[in-house]
Formats: sequence, C-alpha cells, structure tokens
Amino acid sequence: MNYTFIKDLPTNVGEEIELKGWAYNLRSSGKIAFLQFRDGTGRVQVVFEKSGMNENDWEKLNSITIESSVTVTGKVKEEPRAPSGFELEGTGFEIVQLAPDDYPISKKEHGPDFLLENRHLWLRSNAQWAIMRVRNTIINATYEYLNSNGFIKLDSPILTPNAAEGTTTLFELDYFDLGKAYLAQTGQLYIEAGIMSHGRCFDFGPVFRAEKSKTRRHLTEFWMMDAEAAYTEHEENMKIQEGLIVYIVEQVLARNMPELEILERDVEALKKIQAPFVRMTHAEAIAKLREMGSSIGERDDLGADDETILTKEFDRPIFIEKYPVEVKAFYMKRDPEDPSVALNNDMLAPEGYGEIIGGSQREDDYDTLLERIKEENLPIKDWQWYLDLRKYGSVPHSGFGYGLERIVGWICGRAHVRETIPFPRMINRLNP
Ligand code: 4AD
Ligand code: MG
Repeated sequence: MNYTFIKDLPTNVGEEIELKGWAYNLRSSGKIAFLQFRDGTGRVQVVFEKSGMNENDWEKLNSITIESSVTVTGKVKEEPRAPSGFELEGTGFEIVQLAPDDYPISKKEHGPDFLLENRHLWLRSNAQWAIMRVRNTIINATYEYLNSNGFIKLDSPILTPNAAEGTTTLFELDYFDLGKAYLAQTGQLYIEAGIMSHGRCFDFGPVFRAEKSKTRRHLTEFWMMDAEAAYTEHEENMKIQEGLIVYIVEQVLARNMPELEILERDVEALKKIQAPFVRMTHAEAIAKLREMGSSIGERDDLGADDETILTKEFDRPIFIEKYPVEVKAFYMKRDPEDPSVALNNDMLAPEGYGEIIGGSQREDDYDTLLERIKEENLPIKDWQWYLDLRKYGSVPHSGFGYGLERIVGWICGRAHVRETIPFPRMINRLNP
C-alpha cells in the first residue's frame, strides 16, 4: 500500500490508507484506544477496537508512548466532531521507534525558558507547527510578489568589511590577514549595486545584530528581505511595500486558515489589511503622541511604546515618513522640500505590533553621499565601491527591508519574536 498524508484524507474517505508519523497521545479504555496521530501535514485521531485485534497487538498498541514514531493503517471516516473533520478506523500499526515514557513537553503549562531550552522538541507542538507553516507561506508569498513585479533575487554576502546600519550592533570576527570582518546587518547596500545591473532586485536571508536589549521584538539573528528598485522614488517605494504586505496577508488567509485557527488568531483583523494604508509624517506622529500626553521630543526617534500607541488607533498598517535625518541611516536621501528630514518610511503593523519595515529613497548624488559618509566618520576607502554606484550611471532609487520574524509575529498574533523563527538567537540564548 502506498502511504498518504493527513492533509489528503478528504480525498480518501471510505478507503483504507497508511499514514507515517508520530503518536502525540494515546488514551485507552479496556476496549477502545484513541491514538492521537500527526504526520507533519496535520493531526488525526485513529480509533482501535480491542475486539478486532489479537491480545498481543492490543498490548503493543497500549505501550505506545508520547512521541513514538509509528505507522498506521486504517479506514478514513468523516467525523464532524473532529477538528480535522476526519477520523481513522485503525486496522493496523507498526512501531518504528518506541520513545521512552518521559517526553519533556507535556500538556501542562511550561515557562518560556523551559520551552526554549527544548526548542528542538517544542517545534512539534501544535501552535509552533502552525507558526512555521504560516512563516513558510509568508516566505513563498514574498518571492511570488517580488518575482511577479520584476524583482530578481540576488544574494548579498553575510561576511562584510563594514557596518551598514551603525556600529553599535555589529558582530565582529577576525578575518585572516585582512583584519576584522562583520556579520551583515542588512544586504541593502549590495542590492543597490545589483539594481544597476538588473533594475529591480531583492535578497532574503539571515542578518545579524548584536542587540544588547532583551525585548519582545529583537533577535540577534533574524531574516531580512531587502528589496531595491532603480528609477523609483519615495512614493512608489511605499506603494511596493503596501502591495507586498497586502499580498502576503491575502495568501496567508487563503492557505493557512487551519493554522490561524490553531493559533486563535482574529482573522477579521487580518481581513482589514487592505490598501491604502494609513500615512503620517514623523512630525504628525510626534504631534499626535504629544496630544496623548507623551513627552517625546520633536526630533526624537519613535520608541517601541510610541509605536504601540500609534498602531492601536488604526486597523491597518501605518506608514510613518520623513524622519529627522539624524535618527536615520547615512544613505537616506534628504527631502528637497525640507533637508532636515529623510525621504524614508517605517511601516508599523497594527494591533500594537509596531515596525515591520524600514525603507527610503537612497542618496544618489556622489558629493552629497560623500559628505554624509564624512559626517558619520566612516572610513571612505571602505565605502568607495558604494560611492562608485553614484559615479557610474547614478539613478534615483529606493528600497526597503522587512523583518520576517516581526511579520510572522504580527500575522500569527504572537507577542514575542522568539516563537517565530525555528531556532531563536538572543542575547541570552544560543542553545539548542
Ligand atoms: O529598519 P532596519 O534596521 O532597516 C535596514 O536594515 C535597512 N537597510 C533595510 C532596507 O532598507 N533594505 O531593519 C529592517 C527591518 C525592521 O523594520 C524590522 O522589521 C527588522 O528588520 N528588524 C529586526 N527584527 C528582529 N530583530 C531585530 N533585532 C531587528 N532589527 C530590525
Ligand atoms: Mg528600522
């Protein structure tokens, strides 16, 4: 018999099939055993009756421990009371490996430290399974949207000679005879080189920041997607971001309803993620916060709490644009109408989630960029290649970067990013 998958049970009603997977629980009365079974694609209950089995098999069945690997055969039955809508009438089983009866993760509540220590096992739990499926959809939807809008994937390096996003969060290592190397904080600058060849490019991979704070939204290793487009200015840059996020949410709603249900996510909130998103300038955001009693300064960056307050006002993402230049990166183009602010935007996710995207139009004038590099005391020789992009065929261009774990956290309704990446790395966690 060819084996099948739990996700395909609807097409096998009435048939006898085989499934390969793991037992996540077994309840047994003297006469009936309920094996809770998962195979990676879903979960289903397999019901065995003692009357249809020999004594030996019945005993063996009852010896199955939590997280033992097993294969089962059975007849597929519709069962409206089951979460999946199906059940299996067990006809046979095989124990592949009998796990010791001490699986660390039980149904009782565990603290986050214990769960993170057992992340290699925790990944099997239902909610964690659901989050990773949503993450997978978000990754694929990102590729789909960008590819169908003319963006070519160009992989940026992880080992880099300098800091793209400030020097305070750099991971440093010794690099043979060449001195220091740093783990990339973003691939953006390399993607800027790529678009002068391809017009539109993106990268998608791990980036690193030595974040010394423990917050619900900071990891030291996380996945960033940097997109960049030639002949594209600030306004169009925001349109691309808006289109991407709308598409991602739409695809999660189309492909992951069972997962969102497991996560008890309010899907009505996700259905409201439609264009146009809310827009305000940094100055307007500050005014609003001050009206609400905040003592934030006119030219201050927004903190996590400020973002939370602002996003609770709206049911759509918010673009906050035109931040004071001094709180943003050196490569951002200044607004010709007010050179004290940058032609940039952050995108804040609603329901209190806050920043998920950072983007801007890039400085495309050689001399202005050189000035900015000098002002920041960056070593010019390391940046000559980046300046070259403004020397040979410079064009107005813009781009943005999203933090995958922040987006997964928002869409899954999880408070902390540590649950949104398979193996989180934080200031106090490197294991497993
Ligand atoms: O806003 P950031 O720092 O922007 C850049 O790095 C730009 N070079 C991107 C670009 O224009 N191509 O980071 C981009 C996003 C943030 O909006 C946030 O979602 C996420 O990356 N992010 C983090 N996610 C988890 N842990 C951290 N420590 C993060 N730092 C930033
Ligand atoms: Mg940012």
